[in-house]
Amino acid sequence: MLSYQHGFHAGGFADVHKHTALCLLLDHLLRKPAPFCVIDSHAGRGRYDLTAPQAEKTGEWRHGIGRLTDTAPSSDGLRRYLEIVRGFNVATGMQVYPGSPMIAARMMRPTDRLILVEGHPAEHAALIREVRGDPRIHVHRRDSFEALPALVPPEERRGLVLIDPSYEIKSEYERMPGVIEAVLRRWANGIIAIWYPILPELRHEPLLAGIEALSQPTLIAELTGPDPERGLSGTGLVVINPPWQFDEHLAAAGTEMATLLFGDAGRHAQWISEAAA
Ligand SMILES: C[S@@+](CC[C@H](N)C(=O)[O-])C[C@H]1O[C@@H](n2cnc3c(N)ncnc32)[C@H](O)[C@@H]1O
Repeated sequence: MLSYQHGFHAGGFADVHKHTALCLLLDHLLRKPAPFCVIDSHAGRGRYDLTAPQAEKTGEWRHGIGRLTDTAPSSDGLRRYLEIVRGFNVATGMQVYPGSPMIAARMMRPTDRLILVEGHPAEHAALIREVRGDPRIHVHRRDSFEALPALVPPEERRGLVLIDPSYEIKSEYERMPGVIEAVLRRWANGIIAIWYPILPELRHEPLLAGIEALSQPTLIAELTGPDPERGLSGTGLVVINPPWQFDEHLAAAGTEMATLLFGDAGRHAQWISEAAA
């Protein structure tokens, strides 16, 4: 039974990191005219109301997107991300936060496709309402980890898998490398982006060790800074088969967001996995 609801955390600093990387990856895919497919395995409800009780209760967005609202970033990644988020708030100030499905849908072309998987009944129902009528988007209500190997490779043979679990079940950290291995067996050159939280207990370490053991070209990026509300000390991203120059673009955006979000206490670090280096 899933209980996590992203509405409490939407627009927080972890979303800024993850969604900036998502924009950079999509921009890379958009460089070629051939259609691509995005598989978003933990989709959430797609769009979040920052004035709703959930967002008000934690106020996390105020320490994330709220700190960027009036800035004019110089890095391509952060500029693009803000352009997309602002596009959902033209007449309203900062009231709406787009989740990963709506960011992808906004950036994709008519020929690209988006496959969404969401298992929480209420989040799934909201997601269906959000994307209804868009012929590019297909929504599945099923277990993400079971669905993933079955959904690849997409017919386009180009694209991205975004894996953004809530890690409600602690064994998900250990389970992830096996799922990734199954995905890579069927789609060796797909881009796979995985988000993980950095908690004081460092639960993500088995996940990173398992992924490094796959010996696939892999970039790991971490943004750290204080976040008293949630006890998170940071947010991490693993990108398998990163596109050319993605590392440079993410480094520029990451350094800039660390400063804008956390001042001198912020830090963005990234490295290539040792096994693949
Ligand atoms: C962190 S939220 C997703 C946020 C979204 N990717 C975004 O960036 O806007 C994780 C979502 O995954 C869903 N979820 C968690 N475990 C799942 C599973 N095993 N199968 C299907 N959905 C799952 C949760 O219900 C939740 O909506």
